[in-house]
Amino acid sequence: MRRRTFLAGTTALAAAGTAAYGYSKYQSVGLQRLSSRKPLQFSAEIDARQNGEFSISAEAGATQFIPNVRSRTLGFNQSYLGPVIRVAAKGTTRAKVSNKLSFPVTTHWHGLIIPGIQDGGPHQLVEPGKIWTPDLTIDQPAAMVWYHSHVAEQTARQVYAGLAGVMLLDDGKDEERGLPVSYGQDDLVLVIQDKRLNNRGEMVYSSNMHDRMTGFVGNTMMVNGQIDPVAKVPNSIVRLRLLNASNAATYSFEFSDKRPFYVVATDSGYLDKPVEMRSLRLAPAERVQLLVDFRSGSDPLLLSSIKPTLIGGGFMGMMMRGRSMIADAFDGQTAVLAFQTDKSLAQKVTTVPDQLDGGIPDLTAKFARHRLFQLDSGMGMGGGMGMMGGAMTINDQAFDMNRVDFSVQKGTFEKWTISPNVLSHPFHVHGVRFVVLAEGGRPPSVENRGWRDTVLVREKTDILIEFTQTAQQQKPFMFHCHILEHEDAGMMGQFAVT
Ligand code: C2O
Ligand code: CU
Ligand code: CU
Repeated sequence: MRRRTFLAGTTALAAAGTAAYGYSKYQSVGLQRLSSRKPLQFSAEIDARQNGEFSISAEAGATQFIPNVRSRTLGFNQSYLGPVIRVAAKGTTRAKVSNKLSFPVTTHWHGLIIPGIQDGGPHQLVEPGKIWTPDLTIDQPAAMVWYHSHVAEQTARQVYAGLAGVMLLDDGKDEERGLPVSYGQDDLVLVIQDKRLNNRGEMVYSSNMHDRMTGFVGNTMMVNGQIDPVAKVPNSIVRLRLLNASNAATYSFEFSDKRPFYVVATDSGYLDKPVEMRSLRLAPAERVQLLVDFRSGSDPLLLSSIKPTLIGGGFMGMMMRGRSMIADAFDGQTAVLAFQTDKSLAQKVTTVPDQLDGGIPDLTAKFARHRLFQLDSGMGMGGGMGMMGGAMTINDQAFDMNRVDFSVQKGTFEKWTISPNVLSHPFHVHGVRFVVLAEGGRPPSVENRGWRDTVLVREKTDILIEFTQTAQQQKPFMFHCHILEHEDAGMMGQFAVT
């Protein structure tokens, strides 16, 4: 009777007047048998550790998300998304970014702790036909970071169309740590996104009032640009590196058999030891690395649901969450990825390490300044739909390329307190890493442990930031909501570090 539940949900949604979300007959329902699923593909890997450089070029493409239906997309070196770039966690890597498109793009290295001049934010446009060649002076713990276009007011469209990819900061010590290291075999990079397919099966974007307000949420889940794939894995411990590369949706993941998994790393690197969990929240732009035990040989599904953006959930929360937009095959969850164990594959790692060498942040570090940030999505209290249309602001100011909001002293720590209003927002800061000190005055959730560069702000959140990199007034760092529609609508500011 699952099918009926799903249809009822769709009808209720349409009746409630939010038909804008659209229901596509092509959307994923996650019920495909293993035999009819396509094997999960992985982006080409560029290993820049040898000669210390890599090249990517932004180009236009056509991608078949649905067989024989072409969608217009963008990518780096390929039609959609970009290669996985492996670089040394310590050392200088030369990036060559060329733009084969007819409009400007940028490549921001989200998670790299490097000077403002290398950052690739809105002030570093790569014009059509031009090449940008920053030397990335990387020196930070091993981590999974990512790169994406960051043009003012165009980020949502460009990232949605595909201008994003993964970068792995590799310090060569993962085998010593006892972690799986074979890319595409027992070390799987999973770029997770929700996309909207229309009734012809084409990937579409819209930015109507509602989409801008809540952030754009799709009707179909994709992993590495594929719908309902299956990953073949060995009967061993497998590492999953998840990136939430969606425009706006916060996901909650779990396995269909509720098996435990072990979190080994968050945004900016490893934890001090693996943390066992059974479900996990991942907000836009966040990364997490998990170890999953496939030794039993059974074949679970990775399920996801979309968390409500409206603080407190409630009726409006139900309306805005992805639940009814993404097929409701598993009680509000969608199977994003199936796993199939294969005994013939090499079993390299068979135990979960008990210790990792991730630094434990010093929560008592002295901070030089305390700053307050009020995020405002222009909605009236209570989230009335009639109140839409206000500006997206931070401390009552919308983003302005020509206004640097403040300057931070290099080499210091600062405490920032970020408060949301009505909606929760994934708050990101460029060029730094930070620790979450408290959420609503309480210790942070497991998801917010470790060093990070993005935090989902659901209530008043205190973070402690370490500023180690210079950013001049002309090439400042950004701080912003990573719901890309909010960022583009003004929920972004900039600061210098001198
Ligand atoms: Cu991933 Cu300023 O962004
Ligand atoms: Cu960033
Ligand atoms: Cu936001």
